[in-house]
Amino acid sequence: MIGMLEKLEETVAFVRQRTASRPTVGVILGSGLGQLVERMEDATAIDYCDVPHFPAPTVAGHAGRMVFGRIGKVDVVAMQGRFHYYEGHDMRTVAYPTAFMKQFGVRTLIVSNSAGGINRDFTPGDLMLITDHINLFATNPLIGLNDERLGPRFPDMTEAYSPRLIGIADSAAGEMGLKFRHGVYAGLSGPCYETAAEIRYLAHGGADAVGMSTVPEVIAARYLGLEVLGISCITNMATGIATVKHAHEEVVRIANEASERFCAVVAATIAKLGED
Ligand code: HPA
Repeated sequence: MIGMLEKLEETVAFVRQRTASRPTVGVILGSGLGQLVERMEDATAIDYCDVPHFPAPTVAGHAGRMVFGRIGKVDVVAMQGRFHYYEGHDMRTVAYPTAFMKQFGVRTLIVSNSAGGINRDFTPGDLMLITDHINLFATNPLIGLNDERLGPRFPDMTEAYSPRLIGIADSAAGEMGLKFRHGVYAGLSGPCYETAAEIRYLAHGGADAVGMSTVPEVIAARYLGLEVLGISCITNMATGIATVKHAHEEVVRIANEASERFCAVVAATIAKLGED
């Protein structure tokens, strides 16, 4: 990621002037899951379009701002709206908000998304903790000359999704009478939904859910040394398992319906991080 550190430092200097918050936890909010910011105390928002080196998102249903505030005792920054590879952004741009959060002092990344369910035990509205991923973007945000100041050339991806954080999230859910699904997330570029044959292929390969995001940010996060928790909201059953055709509006509708539970359990998980 040659050249990135200099850009990151400019972004950090700008944001430091706009907020006194120094978050240790960062959250990337997927489509329809943005209401978490309503649970943040003393919230301040900064629009991406004002921030140096942040491009503007293009998808309906995705706001484009970062929100700083507190959940329990924990200072948090939430990215409301993310950059997708299918929007035409390169992989480094997709990973830029993650790298910004690390540079700003974040140590824990919670990344969320909407996903199609491949595991037939799943039902739309389920929340799944990501235990691992399969990168099917056919590219990688770390391609190019490496800046050793940011991370290693060949980062390890064992336990990309922190078993420790999965344990904390599971116990937060249990205390609320909720239960997470667990599973493997397959990340594809999109923007078209998968064919039925592709879903059969992914099912054979061990995927439980499929989506068009998250993998680039998590690769960058692990490279940078962040501890990661990933949560998928299953908004629909994947092609061939679902009996109806996909519609983005339906994905957003189901995510919005699940949002209350999602926000409650994520807020409880973050509050628990402050008790350590
Ligand atoms: N496929 C890919 N991405 C998705 C899906 C899906 O079925 N649902 C929500 N995001």
